[in-house]
Amino acid sequence: MKVALKIVSLIAVALSVCWLVIACSGEPKVSQTALFSPDLMADYIYRILKSEREIYGKYVVQRLSETHSIQSSENWERDNALPLPAQVFRMGAELSSQKGSFNYGLISPWNLNENQAPKTEFEQKAMATVLETKLLYKGYQTKDGQKYFSVIYPDKAVTQACVDCHNNHPVHKQRYPDKVFQVGDVMGGILINLPIEE
Ligand code: HEC
Repeated sequence: MKVALKIVSLIAVALSVCWLVIACSGEPKVSQTALFSPDLMADYIYRILKSEREIYGKYVVQRLSETHSIQSSENWERDNALPLPAQVFRMGAELSSQKGSFNYGLISPWNLNENQAPKTEFEQKAMATVLETKLLYKGYQTKDGQKYFSVIYPDKAVTQACVDCHNNHPVHKQRYPDKVFQVGDVMGGILINLPIEE
């Protein structure tokens, strides 16, 4: 009986040692902090946002206009139409920034929606650089007391529709009469602000 008890306790000790070894050196654990570098995280978020916008444009807006003659319109509520991709993008941005300081959005010096102007010193410099280089621009900024890792990714006129709608929009004509977008131009950017611990 005594021997059996000893064997049982030996097995118990061995099992706990095994568990400890696996726990300490086995599978990599999900770290609570700094799992991704901020620029990699921003890149992943950007890829999701870009894909969602493209898919909405292609498989909802374009498809429904062809199959059901349902159009998209800036005044989608009044016209009983689909919201524009830029509006859906903004609605997502507004909803996801309700809790906490993480935020993102479309931005442009030739904005139709004045809330989407480059505001901070960083945003103005970043936007100007993106327009010049056609490449993304990253950096740190402090906004309303919160430190952010911020990136602006170029938003290019990939189709004639981008250019036609913006160039002919009454707000554009009134505010930026001299600005005529061409296909391939950087029309603005996608700004991602990731809050960073001090
Ligand atoms: C049918 C019209 C229409 C089309 C097509 C369109 N846009 Fe827009 N775009 C808008 C409107 C309206 C807004 C403002 C939406 C809002 O926030 O209420 C906007 C917003 C933007 C903004 C943010 C700055 C601003 O003007 O407020 C960017 C950048 C932008 N669009 C780029 C593009 C690109 C790139 C394409 C093509 C892939 C495109 N747009 C296609 C109408 C259009």
